[in-house]
Amino acid sequence: MTTSHHLSRRGLLAAGGVALIGVASGCTSAASPPANPTAASPLPPSATTASDAATQATGQDLVYPFYGAHQSGVETPPTTLQTFIGLDLIDPSPRTADAVLRLVSDDAARLTQGQPALGDTEPGIAASPAGLTITVGIGRQLFERTRRADAIPDSLVEIPAFPTDAFEKPWVQTDMIVQIASDDAVTLTHATRMVTKDLSTLVSVRWMQDGFLPNEPAVPGGVGRRNLMGQVDGTVNPEPGTPDFNTVVWDDSEGPAWVTGGTVLVLRRIRLLLDDWEKLDPTTQENVIGRHQDSGAPLGGTSELEAFDYEAVDANGLPVIPEDAHIRVARAASTEQMILRRPYSYNAGMRNGTNDMGLLFAAYMRDPATSYIPMQTRVAELDAFNRWNITIGSAAYFLPAGAREGGYIGEGIFT
Ligand code: HEM
Repeated sequence: MTTSHHLSRRGLLAAGGVALIGVASGCTSAASPPANPTAASPLPPSATTASDAATQATGQDLVYPFYGAHQSGVETPPTTLQTFIGLDLIDPSPRTADAVLRLVSDDAARLTQGQPALGDTEPGIAASPAGLTITVGIGRQLFERTRRADAIPDSLVEIPAFPTDAFEKPWVQTDMIVQIASDDAVTLTHATRMVTKDLSTLVSVRWMQDGFLPNEPAVPGGVGRRNLMGQVDGTVNPEPGTPDFNTVVWDDSEGPAWVTGGTVLVLRRIRLLLDDWEKLDPTTQENVIGRHQDSGAPLGGTSELEAFDYEAVDANGLPVIPEDAHIRVARAASTEQMILRRPYSYNAGMRNGTNDMGLLFAAYMRDPATSYIPMQTRVAELDAFNRWNITIGSAAYFLPAGAREGGYIGEGIFT
């Protein structure tokens, strides 16, 4: 880390009334992110929304807004790579929590717009955002540890234990999460390094979970991407920009500014038992999920996105989609009970002579009590698929609303 970087960082924190531990006193420069970094970014001048950006810029130049009603990285299209960083505060004070939010926001406001972070030692990488988003979440335990339990949003309920839980260290709840996504591995790794380097005196990193997706949807005109079982995954989801999406994802309660427009992230690490799964014949595999492996169509159908009849029976009077098929059991009965799924695959190398591979099940929702929890309860009790996967990690966070121009994510929570 360069001296100028130290000084700039310290100035940023001084602006918020917090001093970095272990940094000599004497610097007074208050650095803050550009008020409107988008104006100086590769985003074409007329593009002001995520979808504008997606249509007007591509590849390495793709920029999503940082400031706005919601944090980017939820409604923005999934990038091919995504890393989740689980953090614990070394000193769980409100001042430190606020400092972490300021620092991550400052990095995000710059890096997502193709600008170097303060004191960035590799500015050339920052010039290539490739759809970079940096999203921050706060766990219940941080509110409790900072004695701000009264501020816990109503939606951030405790996730109960489920019979299929088989958690392993370290993949469980942390104080905070930072989700970093990009289509470029070098960009994503650089952003990960900048954020963790800038927070290094304030937090310890409990885990990092790296996820990836195929470059394209599995079938032309479709939306799902293939997971490591080869299934088309991510089909039934609320569509970004629609009223249904808002109902499913965004908190519309009349809470503080950081609550309204926020959402809850549930992240589960699910190991896939691929060696056992591959022994099943293709028809059995399809019956376990309830969809065709090649097209992603519901059983009995021909295309991924078609609506289907759950009451349909075959010539023998048996349900076309079995009673215990994953999609029947998981299915939400109404929009209010839906979640947004952005699943990513993971590869953690070999373990005991076999692959440790699986799914980072990332779901976003307005209210887990009425959506995710009943859904996961049904899945844990009834889903045929449970024999071929093990849930080895779980954590939940409130993702505060987006930052106002010139402000930072979570402003007002800990001050
Ligand atoms: C290893 C873990 C999992 C895998 C590989 C997996 C895979 C799939 C696949 C292939 C589909 C069909 C296509 C689609 O609509 O995306 C699907 C649908 C779905 N899954 Fe999962 N899933 C997993 C875990 C879960 C969990 C833990 C939940 C929630 C508790 C869940 C909820 C859903 C829902 C809501 C649907 C859509 C159902 C519908 O309305 O058709 N999945 N999943």
